[in-house]
Amino acid sequence: MAKEPVRFLVTGAAGQIGYALVPMIARGVILGPDQPVILHMLDIPPAAEALNGVKMELVDAAFPLLKGVVATTDVIEACTGVNIAILVGGFPRKEGMERKDVMSKNVSIYKSQASALEKHAAANCKVLVVANPANTNALILKEFAPSIPEKNITCLTRLDHNRALGQISERLNVQVSDVKNVIIWGNHSSTQYPDVNHATVKTPSGEKPVRELVSDDAWLNGEFITTVQQRGAAIIKARKFSSALSAASSACDHIRDWVLGTTEGTWVSMGVYSDGSYNVPAGLIYSFPVTCRNGEWKIVQGLSIDEFSRKKLDLTAEELSEEKSLAYSCLS
Ligand code: NAD
Ligand code: LMR
Repeated sequence: MAKEPVRFLVTGAAGQIGYALVPMIARGVILGPDQPVILHMLDIPPAAEALNGVKMELVDAAFPLLKGVVATTDVIEACTGVNIAILVGGFPRKEGMERKDVMSKNVSIYKSQASALEKHAAANCKVLVVANPANTNALILKEFAPSIPEKNITCLTRLDHNRALGQISERLNVQVSDVKNVIIWGNHSSTQYPDVNHATVKTPSGEKPVRELVSDDAWLNGEFITTVQQRGAAIIKARKFSSALSAASSACDHIRDWVLGTTEGTWVSMGVYSDGSYNVPAGLIYSFPVTCRNGEWKIVQGLSIDEFSRKKLDLTAEELSEEKSLAYSCLS
């Protein structure tokens, strides 16, 4: 018997990431080739015509799994009945704007979308925030949607995780699919800590630690970290736009693993509500290593944290605490 369609919300769907993401969802990249989907796309009135153009293209692409498209500028219509919400819409930083100005615009967007999702989404809707500042937007959403369980609100750091895998694979000239268990700790910003201390590579003679194979601590503790931290800025410099295809693809990876589960022995990085694990202050949305099973994520426990790493975990937590205070000051 055919499965019931799953309703996906993509906000900011007329933007760059939206344009890359909606065909991936409609092709079944996230939930597989036997899962029909209905796409709900939200944007703001100045982008309504472009959004309608995206809808026209979705119709023209004749995706067999796509059972319906809602393209709207009405947040309630967009949120009604959705099972999975990928929140990409936001206000970009413009010339002359202070960090506080961007934060203020985005936290008010996430506050109002929190209410719409809380009231109108399907029960147990899973939320992924992509728009920057991703961790803090997700935190605001959580605070203003108290009836959505905190375990259902996450933010995207899988792109940073995938970037770290990509850097190791290039350095060692191995398949990226043979590298696993890197960790992104903290904020989706340049203070994030890409950690390879537990990462391994599959080789013909078994799994080997990345540190053993690279055997260049100066690179692993220096250039590797800064390359991953600064990759978003490097893409903007090269493309004049921020990353879109890799962001969309990583958002698909995030939701797929969350819903369908991670592979045995492998973890991924997700921005989730901190419960105080690894002495990260509770009450922040912080990127941790997680495994997923039966639609739920769980923070991987018991990993050793050396002194170098400890400082980096704390630094990115401090930045998130500052962002949290700034976000609250914008709302008051
Ligand atoms: P974009 O400017 O091309 O698209 C953003 C879209 O959001 C626009 O169509 C805009 O009209 C829409 N929008 C603005 N306010 C909205 C609202 N209140 N409701 C619904 N839609 C709204 O930007 P993009 O390149 O697609 O990037 C989107 C966001 O994702 C940015 O904040 C970017 O910094 C962030 N990003 C995050 C990651 C990550 O890994 N977390 C990676 C790349 C980009
Ligand atoms: C990225 O990591 O590519 C983006 O978050 C960069 C940005 O500022 O949009």
